Amino acid sequence: MSKKIASARITTQSSELLKELNNSLPFDKVLYREDIRGSLAHALMLSEQGIISQDDYSKIKDGLNQVLKEIESGDFSLDGDDEDIHMAVERRLTEIIGDAGKRLHTARSRNDQVAVDFRMYVLRHNKEIAKLLSELINSLLNKAKDNSDTLLPGMTHLQHAQPINLAYHLNAYSSMFKRDLERFLSSYERNNLSPLGCAALAGTPHPIDREITAKELGFKEPTLNCLDSVSDRDFALEILFNIATMMMHISRLSEELILWSTSEFGFVRLSDKHATGSSIMPQKKNPDIPELLRGKTGRAYGNLVSLLTVMKGLPLAYNKDTQEDKEGVFDSVKTAELSLRVLKEMIDEMSIDKEAMQEACMKGHLSATDLADWLVREVGLPFRDAYHIVGNVVNKAEELGKDISQMSLKELQAVDKRIVNEAVSILDNHSSMNARASEGGTATSKTKEQIERIEKWLKSLEI
Ligand code: ARG
Repeated sequence: MSKKIASARITTQSSELLKELNNSLPFDKVLYREDIRGSLAHALMLSEQGIISQDDYSKIKDGLNQVLKEIESGDFSLDGDDEDIHMAVERRLTEIIGDAGKRLHTARSRNDQVAVDFRMYVLRHNKEIAKLLSELINSLLNKAKDNSDTLLPGMTHLQHAQPINLAYHLNAYSSMFKRDLERFLSSYERNNLSPLGCAALAGTPHPIDREITAKELGFKEPTLNCLDSVSDRDFALEILFNIATMMMHISRLSEELILWSTSEFGFVRLSDKHATGSSIMPQKKNPDIPELLRGKTGRAYGNLVSLLTVMKGLPLAYNKDTQEDKEGVFDSVKTAELSLRVLKEMIDEMSIDKEAMQEACMKGHLSATDLADWLVREVGLPFRDAYHIVGNVVNKAEELGKDISQMSLKELQAVDKRIVNEAVSILDNHSSMNARASEGGTATSKTKEQIERIEKWLKSLEI
């Protein structure tokens, strides 16, 4: 019976059931690059500090590079019986280089090893997701540029409210995704600290230099407190929260695309690439892609709540519970990256029916507020009185089977004599949209300013 490399005291073979519960290799094998990189940095530092010999270091270095090659070529399979990726790499290294391999774990524990590996993975994906978000925002801006004059019924309570333009609506999503992107980058900055060298929980009596490994692995500096560093997982919670919030935004946009592509709205047509058919109804084209994006938001929330729950009762420092941190993060990262790629492609390729949008603005008396504002401004009425007069105007329009923007001066004056010709032009939906030229408003001029500002910010990003 071969002795497990990580147990000096356990002499019997592990039960098969324990292995199934305990082994994380089936999922943490995706961390093999980070694990080997972390070990290379650790071995370099050990040799620079005179803790291992130069000779052992070069054997470890060559050996680790060989393990990497073997994993990538498939010669070393990560489907074996090892407990986790750390044990698998160390075992294979020792098989290749012999005794020098056994020195690698000096001044290190799997507790700081997993913390550094996982942190490198999470940091890398904070950046990757930020990059994909910047590409999505770029696509939204491109669509917006062509549509700062495209009328669209702005809604509240999913009821027609006031006329806006399509670019303004898209800018709202760009603003959400901008905040999302900033969250990923700020998580990156905050967590860009190396836990390597923290050992099991309390540091090590060996004369290590954590600055060396931190620099070597691209971290800003080592973490402050070892007890915290081997047990905290808020860097993972942050990416889960960032993804959950971003998916919520993706889900809202998806919901609008689903609505907009119905025959009731008919505002957009998704490319055939992003629609699917029905197995029974030959006429159908279904928006499965935005539906899936909306649906996948559920698992992103679940992964966040799951890790928050894992962490809530843990005493310091490392506990095996935290092995449950990985699968949810891997799943959320994969979901987020795929969703962003698909959404960008869908936005690039969807077509917009400007006429249908404009026509929809003729329903719902969108410019009613403009008439009330005009009565306040030009006639000097208190807003509440003006509001009631316009209520009567809307009733009249309904009686006539018209939209308020189609009423003649005579029809308007039948409700209130003080309404003059000038008021007729402000009822036009275009004028109404352009009248909202206050900061952050929907007027085409303001919408264009917003596009420019987001674009400038996007160009200034260094990801
Ligand atoms: N596979 C473990 C994890 O993912 C590695 C750390 C194990 N540490 C320990 N003391 N058993 O958390």
